[in-house]
Amino acid sequence: MTHQTQSQHTFDSERVRADFPILGRTARGKRLAYLDSAASTQKPQQVIDAINSFYSESNANVHRGVYELSERSTELYDQARGTIARLINAPDKRQCIFVRNTTEAINLVANSWGRENLKAGDTIVLTMLEHHSNIVPWQVIAQQVGAKIEYVDIDDAGRLRMDQLRELLASGSVKVVATTQVSNTLGTITPLKEITSLAHDAGAIVVADAAQSVPHMQVDVQDLDVDFLAFSGHKMVGPMGIGVLYGKRDLLEAMPPYQTGGSMIREVHLDHTTWADLPEKFEAGTPSVADAVGIAVAADYLSEIGFASIREHEITLTNYALGQLREIPGMTLFGPDGEDRAGVVSFVIDGAHPHDIASILDGEGVAVRAGHHCAQPLMRRLDVTATARASFYIYNTEEDVDQLVSAVETVNSIFGRRAS
Ligand SMILES: Cc1ncc(COP(=O)(O)O)c(C=O)c1O
Repeated sequence: MTHQTQSQHTFDSERVRADFPILGRTARGKRLAYLDSAASTQKPQQVIDAINSFYSESNANVHRGVYELSERSTELYDQARGTIARLINAPDKRQCIFVRNTTEAINLVANSWGRENLKAGDTIVLTMLEHHSNIVPWQVIAQQVGAKIEYVDIDDAGRLRMDQLRELLASGSVKVVATTQVSNTLGTITPLKEITSLAHDAGAIVVADAAQSVPHMQVDVQDLDVDFLAFSGHKMVGPMGIGVLYGKRDLLEAMPPYQTGGSMIREVHLDHTTWADLPEKFEAGTPSVADAVGIAVAADYLSEIGFASIREHEITLTNYALGQLREIPGMTLFGPDGEDRAGVVSFVIDGAHPHDIASILDGEGVAVRAGHHCAQPLMRRLDVTATARASFYIYNTEEDVDQLVSAVETVNSIFGRRAS
């Protein structure tokens, strides 16, 4: 079905909403305003049907069968990889490895590429914006090989201090820069292409955490020239349990396997084993075929709406939300104001703990996240213990924002502050 309206860059979010059965339900007896898509998105009927139809009509293990069902399943798995490669403009679908999620993708790179290429005295550069899944795997490998970790700080608006990145790269010891493309907490969109070009000039590779970018904007791995890029199906209207690691071919080919066992071998002897080619080398064991089919349908669903339209919709909603939230007494909003901000709004209110805010909002049918957002170093940098976070996606409407704003006003009245 088509969701486009007359203008090329807009779509009908009410029609999109109708594709998502869960959004028709109530929460605490109120209309559900689902504003936690940065944690996980809801799924359209098209994705639910695709998974259902895989198990009803095509289920069998891949690769190993010569019978019709196994061939069908293998073909669907392979087609799904092709769809994902097109989504991010990967030159070859074999450079797209199916993993469980962004976390597993980054662990794969840190353990396989890292163990092979990092040594004592090398520097790993991360940023203050990172999710724990782009910090902890690097800390573990750094400890194992004796490498050092340095962080690029943010400025007061939540943008990366590019001057610091340049300084760190000038040391000559940086082997890898691992950075998010969009902060899940501040919504900051980092200048990934520029970061990559600077890192390459300094002889470092770039690992991009695209968990919050691939679902929301056109990501072109060839244009960005990143070496690795990781994202998760469940944040892009696809299923949980599947994610993707894209990698440059020469790097992937030179890397040892991350996990070993079935499906990733060429030959197994009693005393040694040789590895399969890409992508199988990195896909040990039975893959989640239904979820691969699901993520491909999700990719097609988003592509059909169009990433320019998705981005424009999210900018409109974010600005609409910021404009109203800014007027609320006691409100502190985090993140940059401008083109380089995604549809994420983190805030705190004087005198109200973010968990209390979220639970009062929940009583009004508004689902937001409260806590450290798996970014504890960033929380410390912002000098807060937690924030409340609303995040917007294709199925959100101005009505959701109005419901959020009115629920936040309720927070203020409960905590004894009235709008001035
Ligand atoms: C920026 C970012 N990176 C990584 C992750 C981890 O994703 P997953 O839990 O799917 O591995 C998240 C999830 O919130 C995220 O927002």
